[in-house]
Amino acid sequence: MTPEMNERLTRIVQGTDLGNLLRRYWHPVAGVTEFAETRMKPVRFFGEDLLLYQGESGAFGLIPRRCQHRGADISFGFVEDDGVRCHYHGWKYDASGACIDRPFDTAINPDRKLAAKPGPGYLVKEKAGMLWIYMGPQPAPEIPDWEIFGWPNTFKQIAIAHIPCNWTQIQENTVDPIHFEWLHNNTQLRRMGDKSEYSPPTLKMAIEDTSYGLLTRRYREGTDESSPLWNVGRAMIWPNGWFFGHHLEWKVPIDDKNTLYLLWFALRVPREYEPYEQGPIPTWHAPIKDKNGQWLENSITNQDVIAWISQGEIADRSNESLCASDIGVVALRRRLIEDMDAVKEGRDPRCLLRDPAANQALELPCIDLEDLKNGLPLKEMQEHFLMGSLLKEFYIISGQPEEVKREFEAAMRVQTSSYDIHAMVQK
Ligand code: FES
Ligand SMILES: [Fe+2]
Repeated sequence: MTPEMNERLTRIVQGTDLGNLLRRYWHPVAGVTEFAETRMKPVRFFGEDLLLYQGESGAFGLIPRRCQHRGADISFGFVEDDGVRCHYHGWKYDASGACIDRPFDTAINPDRKLAAKPGPGYLVKEKAGMLWIYMGPQPAPEIPDWEIFGWPNTFKQIAIAHIPCNWTQIQENTVDPIHFEWLHNNTQLRRMGDKSEYSPPTLKMAIEDTSYGLLTRRYREGTDESSPLWNVGRAMIWPNGWFFGHHLEWKVPIDDKNTLYLLWFALRVPREYEPYEQGPIPTWHAPIKDKNGQWLENSITNQDVIAWISQGEIADRSNESLCASDIGVVALRRRLIEDMDAVKEGRDPRCLLRDPAANQALELPCIDLEDLKNGLPLKEMQEHFLMGSLLKEFYIISGQPEEVKREFEAAMRVQTSSYDIHAMVQK
């Protein structure tokens, strides 16, 4: 790949092809419960410093943080009605980011109508306990209504991490299944001093276009095309998500060298403890290093985080040696290029949902979907290859707070203990 193409595939801030493409989709960026104790959260997306806030009616807004007057950061201001006032001289902004009041000007010229400077008109919506933002042109598409959002009797939680590297290399991981047997299996076994045989290698993989994105199929030595890893596969949601049955995850560009990583979990409680109605969905922030500054690497996703960051702030694709295991990565890049071209030519990119009637309880494929969706008795859950490990410890990403762990244990009526990495090796 040429350095120029690498730039095109990675640069995300204002006016870039990739930024223009990714702005055409909704991105989940926060948990609604983050606003239980604050009205304002300074954020940064697509290279823009923004304020995510909740107005007094409960409605959310996403507006530029830089005051139009003399550039103070309005996250030091305060919410008033459904707008925000700058702390410096009191200019007020509505949810579109338009300035709707300049107090001194109004005081000295009460009869003169203020010429409101327009704002960018970014949108914020709540769905599944998350706040979703849309920073593209109107009309906005639908937020996909994934069926899992409506599963009853589930314990949900939202984890958010800040990843200091470029979005594209992170999303490439979703269509790169060969990394499972190395990064998550063999590398971890050796790191633990385990000299036993490598886990079974993947013998075949394939990638398919679907209505929601890309489907990855594969099977490992000792299995064949009857393996659910092949005949069900794993769903990558275009352009920013991934589905695992017990969680969905998304990557959202902060700027060229930083990405927000949001994971939304839902695990059905054991059948004998239904009905279960959860209160507000806890949202927590996942650190990527421990208090000594060392990488956290005992959880699956933290292993990925280290791999992503180790590729560099922006991976240099002009120096790669792609091989047969990269068919998914190549497919992703080709489709990003096609979609960047489509947006440039005024066409919609793929997988946009525009019909509300067709956007209801959309199913995604997943191994053992029926068990996850319908639930199992506790004993069967504990023996289940996907759910059993989750009942032992929250191994997906490090840093789960004690209070969330206790809430999970109360819902599932289990005591979590130590996670055994060997239990995951054959997956
Ligand atoms: S800088 Fe914001 S009101 Fe003056
Ligand atoms: Fe991974």
